[in-house]
Amino acid sequence: MKRVVIVTGASSGLGEAVARQLAAEKVQLILVARRKSALEKVAADLKVTYGVNVLAIPGDVSDPGLAVKAVHAGNEELGRIDGLVNNAGILDPMGKVDQVDPAAWKYNLEVNLLGPFYFMREAMATLRKFRGRVVNVSSGAGVTPMDSWSGYCSSKAGLIHLSRVIALDEPHVVTVSFRPGVVDTEMQDFIRREGSGRMSGERLTYFENLKKEGKLLPPQVPAKAVAWLVLKAPRGLSGDFVPFDDPRIGSLDE
Ligand SMILES: NC(=O)c1ccc[n+]([C@@H]2O[C@H](COP(=O)([O-])OP(=O)(O)OC[C@H]3O[C@@H](n4cnc5c(N)ncnc54)[C@H](OP(=O)(O)O)[C@@H]3O)[C@@H](O)[C@H]2O)c1
Repeated sequence: MKRVVIVTGASSGLGEAVARQLAAEKVQLILVARRKSALEKVAADLKVTYGVNVLAIPGDVSDPGLAVKAVHAGNEELGRIDGLVNNAGILDPMGKVDQVDPAAWKYNLEVNLLGPFYFMREAMATLRKFRGRVVNVSSGAGVTPMDSWSGYCSSKAGLIHLSRVIALDEPHVVTVSFRPGVVDTEMQDFIRREGSGRMSGERLTYFENLKKEGKLLPPQVPAKAVAWLVLKAPRGLSGDFVPFDDPRIGSLDE
């Protein structure tokens, strides 16, 4: 069966790994991120390696027009949309509340919370029609406060709760939020590179040690869980905040 999934933040890290996992399942893809050349490289590689249709739509998810463009491409060029993975996200700004730039704080919410809202809003009519699924990539920081990450924690908490409301409003679309664990991606590089003096030394050392001790998850691990959720999550999971190692997550082969 032909299936089409939108993945935001697919130019690197978890989003790229999700796109790869879905392409291996013969899913056709609409990939979104700001870095045009990195995104197009991922798209070209997936096309050649897996023989699937992949559209690259470069842009910023904080622009509502990007969601319109991506959903239009799904409907017009690929004929349907079965799934949406709202994965694009940023950590900045780090710092105490009177040290952070309000414009950067606002942008964090625009990317991490409004972006998923715009994409769900645009895609919902099609997702309803095809009994689709949404995975909103949140974070443990959405339920556990992390010092100096006020924008990130607030946006990720908002995304968990937004997913619960959408699950209530949309009985024909399974909507979950997702906790990826601590993953070896550019976001972790950013924390180690920029965290000094902008977050507590204790927290920074914790992340540095995870890297040193080889305890960060490879992106492929949570990516498998996301791929299963967006292709197979049952109605009973709708509204839940699902961790990558949730025992309810099944195998893609079943
Ligand atoms: N790594 C972790 O430990 C961890 C833990 C919990 C949750 N998460 C969440 O996992 C998701 C993926 O992050 P990652 O760890 O894979 O880090 P990453 O490698 O930095 O990936 C972030 C992705 O989002 C894209 N992106 C960022 N801002 C964007 C914007 N305004 N518009 C469009 N795309 C944008 C980036 O591409 P461009 O720069 O090309 O736009 C990139 O593809 C994020 O939502 C993050 O909060 C990560």
